Amino acid sequence: MRIDVLSLFPDMVDGFCSHSLLGRARETGLVDLRCHDPRDYTHDVHRTVDDAPFGGGAGMLMRPEPIIECIEAVAPPRPLFLLSPGGRRFDQATAAELAALDGFSLLCGRYEGIDHRVREHVVDGELSIGDVVLAGGEVAACLIIEAVTRLIPGVMGNDEGPVTESFGVSGLLEEPQYTRPATYRGWDVPEILRSGDHARVARWRKAQALHRTMAMRPDLIEARGGIDDAEQRLLEEFPPVPYP
Ligand SMILES: C[S@@+](CC[C@H](N)C(=O)[O-])C[C@H]1O[C@@H](n2cnc3c(N)ncnc32)[C@H](O)[C@@H]1O
Repeated sequence: MRIDVLSLFPDMVDGFCSHSLLGRARETGLVDLRCHDPRDYTHDVHRTVDDAPFGGGAGMLMRPEPIIECIEAVAPPRPLFLLSPGGRRFDQATAAELAALDGFSLLCGRYEGIDHRVREHVVDGELSIGDVVLAGGEVAACLIIEAVTRLIPGVMGNDEGPVTESFGVSGLLEEPQYTRPATYRGWDVPEILRSGDHARVARWRKAQALHRTMAMRPDLIEARGGIDDAEQRLLEEFPPVPYP
C-alpha cells in the first residue's frame, strides 16, 4: 500500500513511522510511505507557506499554492484526505475501509488551518481523529497510518488480532487478558484460563467481553442491537471480573 503525507513537518511523520510494526512494514515493502513538504514548492526567498486570513481574525492560514503545486508534482494516491477537526470521525471501521485500498493520502494542516479553496477543489474528503483541536495534522496522520497499516495482511505477526480485538467483527470490547505470572502480589489469574478447557475458556471470554462492553461502552451494545438470550445466559453463568 502506498501512503503519501503532505506536511510542513514531514520528519515528524517519517520518524514516528520508522519504528516497530510500521518500520518493519516499510522495510519489507508492505507499506510505501512517502512524506512531502509543501514548503519545497514555494517560490520566494523566505519559502512562505502561510498568510493572514482575509477579513481579519486570529492566526495565520496555509496558502493554497504550495499545497496545490506539491500535489500536482507528486501525484499522491487518491483519495486524498485533509486532516481537520471538522472532518468525518476516524474509527476502526474507517481504518478497515482504508486498509482495503491500494493507497491513500493525508494532508496535514498547521496554523489556524488551510485556505478553504484547497478543501473545496483539491481534496476528496476530510478526516478528524476526534472532537479535539491539535496544533497540526501530523499526530492525526500518524494515528491513522498506524491504525490502517496494522490491518494490512502480513503487517502483524498474528492476522487474527484485528478480528478478535476491540471493535472487531463482534462489535464488542476485548475481554480482560492475562499473562504470567499466574499469581502476582496475591492477585490471581482467573482459574478458568488455566483449566485447559478450551470451549469453556471461549464461553468465559465472550461473557467477559459482553460484561466489559456493557460497563465501559453501553453505546456499542445498543449499536449491535442489545444482548440475545444465549448471551444473557452466558452473562449469568460467568460473573464479571472486577473493574476499578
Ligand atoms: C490548530 S488546528 C486548526 C483548527 C481550526 N482553526 C478549527 O477551528 O477547526 C491546525 C491543524 O491541525 C489539524 N488538526 C487539529 N485537530 C485535528 C483533529 N481533531 N483531527 C484531525 N486533524 C486535526 C488540522 O490539519 C488543522 O488544520
